[in-house]
Amino acid sequence: MASTILRVEDVVKRFGGITALKGVTMEVYEGEILGLIGPNGAGKTTLFNVITGVYKPDRGKVYFKGKDITGLPPHKIARLGVARTFQIVKPFKGLTVLENVTAAVFYGPRGDEYSFKAAEEKAMEVLRLVGLEDHADTLATRLNVAMKKRLELARALAQDPELLLLDEALAGLNPREVSAMLEIIRKVREERRVTMIMVEHVMHAVMNVSDRIVVLHLGEKIAEGSPEAVARDPRVVEAYLGDPELALRFVRRLGGGA
Ligand SMILES: Nc1ncnc2c1ncn2[C@@H]1O[C@H](COP(=O)(O)OP(=O)(O)OP(=O)(O)O)[C@@H](O)[C@H]1O
Ligand SMILES: [Mg+2]
Repeated sequence: MASTILRVEDVVKRFGGITALKGVTMEVYEGEILGLIGPNGAGKTTLFNVITGVYKPDRGKVYFKGKDITGLPPHKIARLGVARTFQIVKPFKGLTVLENVTAAVFYGPRGDEYSFKAAEEKAMEVLRLVGLEDHADTLATRLNVAMKKRLELARALAQDPELLLLDEALAGLNPREVSAMLEIIRKVREERRVTMIMVEHVMHAVMNVSDRIVVLHLGEKIAEGSPEAVARDPRVVEAYLGDPELALRFVRRLGGGA
């Protein structure tokens, strides 16, 4: 049995009258890809923000490799080896792809140890991993959506994370681009042994690539288990029924046809 790399314990996060997370407890095991799914507003991004120190939870704890990181500032958590991508990609404007990724190298656990040249070499290596090497000198803002998503992933990987949080890395991609991104994600796990939590609405993709799935709904964990078990869980199907398109995808996955 793999050891636990991240433990979220009874996390509550409120925004004024809204309770975005209502006591979420979950574990992530070293080396796995954990799919974190749930309808819009379920609390997925909020959970990422609590894990990475953007928000301090109103209650509960976050442990990374057994260390209590609850409420630490984001840069300290990044230094410990946790990186994330953003749902809304935000590269530094005015910088090239290579410059964006080079800057990110310095935020990682060993960021202090890099000379500029070494950081640039590392950035190029990451650009090759995500298939962006031919765009190194392109202004980041000029990339198309699929390439911006890859850049977002490259910036996170440049930090050499042990745990990587992907927030909708596949959103807005066409089927061919989704397949390419999944290949990259698999390669990252195999070559870099990075543990990942993947927030995703592209159901067939997240079901396909994840070892386990956790389902959030209205701030609560409503299911957890293998992709197969979760896709058949009546609570999960019901949670998605408010969104006909997603519900339909679940039904298809269950073999019920369109
Ligand atoms: N900074 C904030 N201020 C106020 N409310 C917020 C804030 N961030 C999130 N919320 C609310 O918390 C709830 C959870 O939002 P969150 O963004 O975590 O959902 P999500 O699961 O990531 O949804 P989506 O799939 O649409 O990205 C929503 O009701 C949202 O409106
Ligand atoms: Mg979100």
